[in-house]
Amino acid sequence: MSLVCVSDFEAYAKKHLPKATWDYFAAGADDSVTRDDNLRAYKRYEERIRLRPRMLRDVSVVDTKTTILGTEIGFPVGIAPTGFHRLAWPSGEQSTAKAAEAMDTCYIASTYSTCLMEEIVSAAPEGLRWFQLYIHQQRSASEQLVRRVEALGFRAVVLTVDVPYTGKRRDDFRNNFQLPPHMSVKNLEGVFEDRDRSEYGLPANSMEPRLGWEDIHWLRSLTHLPIILKGILTKEDAELAVRHGVQGIIVSNHGGRQLDGVLASIDALVEIKEAVQDKVEVYLDGGVRTGTDVLKALALGAKCVFIGRPALWGLAYKGEEGLQELLQILKDEFRLAMALTGCRSVSEIGRHLVQSSRL
Ligand code: FNR
Ligand code: LAC
Repeated sequence: MSLVCVSDFEAYAKKHLPKATWDYFAAGADDSVTRDDNLRAYKRYEERIRLRPRMLRDVSVVDTKTTILGTEIGFPVGIAPTGFHRLAWPSGEQSTAKAAEAMDTCYIASTYSTCLMEEIVSAAPEGLRWFQLYIHQQRSASEQLVRRVEALGFRAVVLTVDVPYTGKRRDDFRNNFQLPPHMSVKNLEGVFEDRDRSEYGLPANSMEPRLGWEDIHWLRSLTHLPIILKGILTKEDAELAVRHGVQGIIVSNHGGRQLDGVLASIDALVEIKEAVQDKVEVYLDGGVRTGTDVLKALALGAKCVFIGRPALWGLAYKGEEGLQELLQILKDEFRLAMALTGCRSVSEIGRHLVQSSRL
């Protein structure tokens, strides 16, 4: 069987994963309006984003390389943090790390990984890694995690700011979805010992809902690593992020799993980029499924995009090989999209490439 595009991997995963796992990966909050809008926003006819290609520009050599926070990567598609990779493939996050390393891109490892951070590093020692942090009410556990990943050579802390509480994903309720007993949120083991495990094997509502902007200073005091905020959707918050001294922003609505009815991430990108300009790097995740999606996001101001569910589909297909294959497909599609729009390097991708009735 030959899989030729990301949606082929999605179909394979849907067919082969246990239903409750598929449902957990696929879930959006409430009616999943935002989850579906993330994809449609790239394609829809009204309020459309369409490309304006340039011709006769000698595209015999096309270079997809770029940099994020000063580190070179092979192409501007990284792996967004998602939990529980061992649900998709037995070696879980170790396979994710190997695929990202092989494809020369960045892997953002989730706090909710099912492998230890130490195991992830030893699986792919040369890989570029950022650590995604959830802050729980047990702040000392978060503090220890941050110190641990800094010592392990992670290159940034990505603080997720859109989960003071978990969004309501109906299928997870219906399935009473839980991690199977042989898996756990390994990096937090021992933190919640005495409480019931009602949410994915963690106590329900264990996140720290009191987080505020002042906590960015607290986080800053714990680490020398760059801090990136994930889950920003407005220019107001983007401006606050800059004022609080972070190094990057990931424009994201958590794949539509948190507040349903928020705007698609690609639609939020424009006002955020206009507000922060080049003061900090702006990245995006949500709904990226093709090389032209990547090109559109870069044209509208993203320095790099990240894929969430597609990475899980790649793992579900064939572990590290499957994810590597999927990343290679996205890289090839992105290179082709660059060539067909007349871009020989990532620096030539700009706003002139898109026409949008929204801009
Ligand atoms: C996520 N996401 C997420 N984000 C985060 O900061 N920490 C996490 O542990 C998780 N876990 C998680 C699990 C699953 C199954 C999904 C689908 C998503 C959100 C993720 O980083 C990203 O924002 C979205 O997945 C991007 O949308 P796409 O690429 O899935 O459309
Ligand atoms: C999710 C949590 C793990 O989106 O962030 O499933």
